[in-house]
Amino acid sequence: MSQIISHCTADSLANAAQLLSNGSLVAFPTETVYGLGADANNADAVARIYQVKGRPADHPLIVHIAGMEDMDQWAEEIPNYAIALARDFWPGPMTLVLKRNERAKDFITGGQESVGLRVPAHAIALGLLAAFKNLGGTGIAAPSANRFGQVSPTTAKAVEDEIHDYLLPTDLILDGGQALVGVESTIIDCTQSAPVILRPGAITQQMIEESTGLLVEQTRDETIRVSGSLENHYAPNARVVLGALAEAGEGFIALASISTPKGAIRLASPKTVEDYARVLYLALREADAQGLSKIAVIEPEGDGLAIAIRDRLLRASRGR
Ligand code: TXA
Ligand code: MG
Repeated sequence: MSQIISHCTADSLANAAQLLSNGSLVAFPTETVYGLGADANNADAVARIYQVKGRPADHPLIVHIAGMEDMDQWAEEIPNYAIALARDFWPGPMTLVLKRNERAKDFITGGQESVGLRVPAHAIALGLLAAFKNLGGTGIAAPSANRFGQVSPTTAKAVEDEIHDYLLPTDLILDGGQALVGVESTIIDCTQSAPVILRPGAITQQMIEESTGLLVEQTRDETIRVSGSLENHYAPNARVVLGALAEAGEGFIALASISTPKGAIRLASPKTVEDYARVLYLALREADAQGLSKIAVIEPEGDGLAIAIRDRLLRASRGR
């Protein structure tokens, strides 16, 4: 049980910020996916995030901040290239992993010496962060607002379907429409001499290299404790099969230029790669809503955002 606010006003954002200060949870829209937020300084509130998600407690959370001027509330020894990235891409779909300071407790970082920070580009998220800052808040910890291992929600309805049963009457869901990007933020490790991409997203390797003037690596290290890097992630109940055409009665996702195999159930026909990212998670959810057992997917080609889409699809295809 919880309340959904469909038309956010300054008053509703002030009220939501007050709820966060009281230790309640507020699910809110960002341009990537919806987040499940709690006061990042409140250990009990953050513990409830783990409860609601059903997520192991040693997985670190991203702290959402109102602007780059709040980076040093949570991090120290911030390298110049991270400042350049923040300046170029915040607010935006990018999370910077930085050396933590004493404020970033183990219950946020999962015991790691680093902390993930992000300034989201969504009017409601920024309004909520500003209102929370007015009350003395320094950051909102928020993972994607789905149950552990499930597909991230890109609409308020999807948030409701995922976690409604686990929320309290004093928690809140803010509806900000469908997420514009549709896949989670690019996560960049900024604790070394050059940036390393831990999770691909809409801020691409080329953009990061142009911003920093440094060569950027894309990690393949499965031992790094990024829960999004576990194999059993971003998966619907239906089995996802890559590179195959659908048989009759099976779900099918591909660019609009690829026609639907006879008898297959078309779940999405994105015209562009950006469109593909935006509708992918809704299409996976739709397959489950229709009770389909299999989804055949033709992945988008190329680099940039297509890399992030193929990354999520690969994980989805490994199932839960
Ligand atoms: O787009 C997004 O990033 C969304 C929106 C709500 O901001 N958030 C999101 O959070 O995807 P979550 O918790 O579902 O995924 C964040 C990933 C996790 O896999 C977590 O392990 C990783 O970020 N992460 C957070 N802090 C980290 C750190 N200090 N070092 C390495 N990975 C970290
Ligand atoms: Mg997630």
